[in-house]
Amino acid sequence: MLWTILLLLFNGLLILVYVYSSRTRQKNEPPLDKGVIPWLGHALEFGKDAAKFLARMKDKHGDIFTVRVAGHYVTVLLDPNSFDEVLNDTFCLDFARSKKQLLQRIFCLQLPSIKPTAERKWMEQHFQGLSLSKLSSSMKAHLQKLLLSDQTDCQPSKWTQNGLFSLCYSLLFRAGYLTLFERIDDAPAVYKEFRKFDDLLPKLARCSLKRGERKTAALSRERLWELLSPKGVSFRLDSNSWQQSYHHFLQEEGIDAEMQNRAFLLQLWTTQCNTGPAAFWLLGFLLTNPEAMEAVKSEIRDLTLQHPLIHPLEAHSTPVFDSVLSETLRLTAAVMISREVVQDKCLRMANGQEYHLRQGDRVCLFPFLSPQNDAEIHLQPQIFKYDRFLNEDMTVKDTFYKEGKRLKYITMPWGAGTNVCVGKEFAVTTIKQFVFLFLTHLDLELCNPEDKLPPVNTSRYGFGMLQPDGDLQIRYRLKKTQPEM
Ligand code: HEM
Repeated sequence: MLWTILLLLFNGLLILVYVYSSRTRQKNEPPLDKGVIPWLGHALEFGKDAAKFLARMKDKHGDIFTVRVAGHYVTVLLDPNSFDEVLNDTFCLDFARSKKQLLQRIFCLQLPSIKPTAERKWMEQHFQGLSLSKLSSSMKAHLQKLLLSDQTDCQPSKWTQNGLFSLCYSLLFRAGYLTLFERIDDAPAVYKEFRKFDDLLPKLARCSLKRGERKTAALSRERLWELLSPKGVSFRLDSNSWQQSYHHFLQEEGIDAEMQNRAFLLQLWTTQCNTGPAAFWLLGFLLTNPEAMEAVKSEIRDLTLQHPLIHPLEAHSTPVFDSVLSETLRLTAAVMISREVVQDKCLRMANGQEYHLRQGDRVCLFPFLSPQNDAEIHLQPQIFKYDRFLNEDMTVKDTFYKEGKRLKYITMPWGAGTNVCVGKEFAVTTIKQFVFLFLTHLDLELCNPEDKLPPVNTSRYGFGMLQPDGDLQIRYRLKKTQPEM
């Protein structure tokens, strides 16, 4: 009897799998590509290298197609002129539900009582106006102190060797942590644990951790919760740190102590995971492109000579530096903007073509492929051109076209729509400040002048800034004469 029931259940399951995997493309739907493996579909290829996989699908199907990935049907839209159809639709498309699932999976975090709009409003208040300028000057002071204190053993004539990625990530993380969390003692321990967790995060998000890795990720996460806990830390009476304020916000929303620690880890990751890698790529591109390095240095030199009493980054525009940053982010920022279709939707493309999206599916934009690496928009998109975003008269170049139509979205490193990065201004100021400090305080060069930038770690597409697979060895020493800041 038991066997008969089991057999019936098994057959039922097989039929369900068959019915679900036998979805066919209906009239007016985007091209459908299910892959050959039932249920999984293209999940393995997607997880291994999403950019390569989606580029292959784009070549095969064009700017819109639906793929099956681990039981989900995901419609990928790669025409930036049509992005607003997705970004502006909050009726048929929802981002909150899948974000909630992801936060639960990665950070074991549930904040059901907090409205996303309330948290967003809190964040926005803390990254603009007076708060922003306080944060930026605190960050600048920490960066300068750390950069110089890390060099105390370093004589002006003595070179230190290090991996550029480790150096950038570690310095920016510690300075960011000190700025937002205002904890002096444990920054190196938090950084060490954070890197372990961050390395495993893409696999954690995709549920593809091996057994040993699962244990490491869980231990690391617990250790970080402990380290970030405000328990035992007495805030200075005069301190009004970002963390302290976030702590009050969570308490007012009725969040218990355990969930608060988990929320701190989410915020630590959100605020610290992108800036270090971005600074690495920027300095890496400069070191491997002498012409670009010279152009940036000469812009800083000219501004310093013309206005010796004003900090070059504070009172002047720096179009060359800005173009280098935009070009760096174009090549190395790879966010995936994803929405759940909560009601059937008709998606109207910029060329007038209409497609039907089914309720229960997902829709996803991957700006890394288009606009950022689209050959129709950016000439030789795989090459770093420091002046790509500069006009001949040295003004910012922001007019680019696809199919003859001027683009609204040229690059999208900060995401877009309801959850666009709230720390954008703070991040830009920080990265420029960091690179400026490096170039003005240190002599910096590649250990091997022939070295190229390492390739990207392909598992990180979709998680913000890309990280390298490997590092770039550099050597540096304090300049003989230090500029006055
Ligand atoms: C190069 C540096 C950075 C890049 C490329 C970047 C990019 C992004 C992107 C793409 C998102 C949207 C994520 C999504 O759609 O799920 C985001 C969200 C966010 N970013 Fe940044 N970010 C950077 C630095 C920072 C910094 C320095 C801070 C603050 C100190 C910050 C604070 C935030 C916050 C709080 C959110 C969440 C917004 C929300 O959920 O509504 N970011 N960032």
